Amino acid sequence: MGLLTIWFKHVSGFILQVVQTALSETQDPEDISVTVKAFMTADLPNELIELLEKIVLDSSVFSDHRNLQNLLILTAIKADRTRVMEYINRLDNYDAPDIANIAINNQLYEEAFAIFKKFDVNTSAIQVLIDNVNNLDRAYEFAERCNEPAVWSQLAKAQLQQGLVKEAIDSFIKADDPSAYMDVVETAHKTESWEDLVRYLQMARKKARESYIESELIYAYARTNRLADLEEFISGPNHADIQKIGDRCFDDGMYEAAKLLYNNVSNFARLAITLVHLKEFQGAVDGARKANSTRTWKEVCFACVDSEEFRLAQMCGLHIVVHADELEDLINYYQDRGYFEELINLLEAALGLERAHMGMFTELAILYSKYKPAKMREHLELFWSRVNIPKVLRAAEQAHLWAELVFLYDKYEEYDNAVIAMMNHPSEAWREGHFKDIITKVRNF
Ligand SMILES: *[C@@H]1O[C@H](CO)[C@@H](O)[C@H](O)[C@H]1NC(C)=O
Ligand SMILES: *[C@@H]1O[C@H](CO)[C@@H](O)[C@H](O)[C@H]1NC(C)=O
Ligand SMILES: *[C@@H]1O[C@H](CO)[C@@H](O)[C@H](O)[C@H]1NC(C)=O
Repeated sequence: MGLLTIWFKHVSGFILQVVQTALSETQDPEDISVTVKAFMTADLPNELIELLEKIVLDSSVFSDHRNLQNLLILTAIKADRTRVMEYINRLDNYDAPDIANIAINNQLYEEAFAIFKKFDVNTSAIQVLIDNVNNLDRAYEFAERCNEPAVWSQLAKAQLQQGLVKEAIDSFIKADDPSAYMDVVETAHKTESWEDLVRYLQMARKKARESYIESELIYAYARTNRLADLEEFISGPNHADIQKIGDRCFDDGMYEAAKLLYNNVSNFARLAITLVHLKEFQGAVDGARKANSTRTWKEVCFACVDSEEFRLAQMCGLHIVVHADELEDLINYYQDRGYFEELINLLEAALGLERAHMGMFTELAILYSKYKPAKMREHLELFWSRVNIPKVLRAAEQAHLWAELVFLYDKYEEYDNAVIAMMNHPSEAWREGHFKDIITKVRNF
């Protein structure tokens, strides 16, 4: 402690009286300034407070002096916090934002709030309630009293951060503020607050015609099953990414919504698959026709098979079997599920197609050999030139269709094998005339 301070403390009571009396009379700011500086230098805050109260609170010519008001409050913050609130309320000419921030730094939150409120800096006031007092209920009451958009926005952001989605959205709507739309959407997704999200996005869309907002609004309509709203929305001019939202609805199993969306963007391939999920098979087949892609035909076909809609499955299948490299897949799909009859019907219907190919004739022959041996002979007689003979030979042998085996060896000009087969299986394959005929051919080789 400096010598001056010690001396000051010693005599301060006496001096103060003298000084106060003297100062209450003075009109000269210089007198005040010198005196205050002396008290500050001497580090006598309580005495300084008493002195300043005399000057500032009791009406004197210096009552409104900004620096003195600041000094009184700041000294109280340092030396006697209980007095701060009173000064804040009684004085009017201090540097409010600076003093408030110093109050916050000294944990005098209610005092800071009081300053901001008094000077109508409502956004700063509510920020104190949110950040420092940590009381969203009070913040809400305050926002309601101000009813100022910026204040609602701040409250909304705080509520959102706390996961109070409904409350946050109410506040954002009162603020008419769409700016935090990404955060709102993300949080509302986590909490599945779809109804609230619709309300929010309807507000947001009026303010900002963003693709993101409109896309999310469509998705939220789907989530709330508001399909009429969804339909109306997409049939009007909009900036939504309808394809993307359609995919999302599809992935989330919202097929009715996906149907509307794929329809709008004429994505018939996706529409067809969507209709399969909705068990609208006729529509799915129509969609596949418009999509005109083998992949879609296959997806719809297999779905129809799963649902045992064989008539429709066949309509799709006819577009598949003409592709030689797709045939095996299709056959396996039917066969693995035991639908041999339906598969045979499909291939029979396909033989007449312009694009019928060897694979189809061959596979049908093999199927006959396994499941309908009675039809094998006629098929071979009509189409032996269009089948892959070695493959069908193996099938006939496996199925013990000896007469058909002989027939095929003959056509394949393997006469010795034909003869051997005939002799090995005389009861089924022996025919006198035929035997003689073939034997002649064997000799000629
Ligand atoms: C702040 O809120 C008060 C009500 O508490 C209101 O009278 C005042 O107009 C608001 N200030 C501004 C700048 O909107
Ligand atoms: C898709 O939506 C647009 C508006 O964005 C509309 O003009 C169009 O008619 C719709 N198309 C279909 C097939 O619904
Ligand atoms: C279907 O697609 C093929 C090519 O894969 C094309 O040649 C044909 O014209 C298309 N048909 C229709 C009706 O669009």
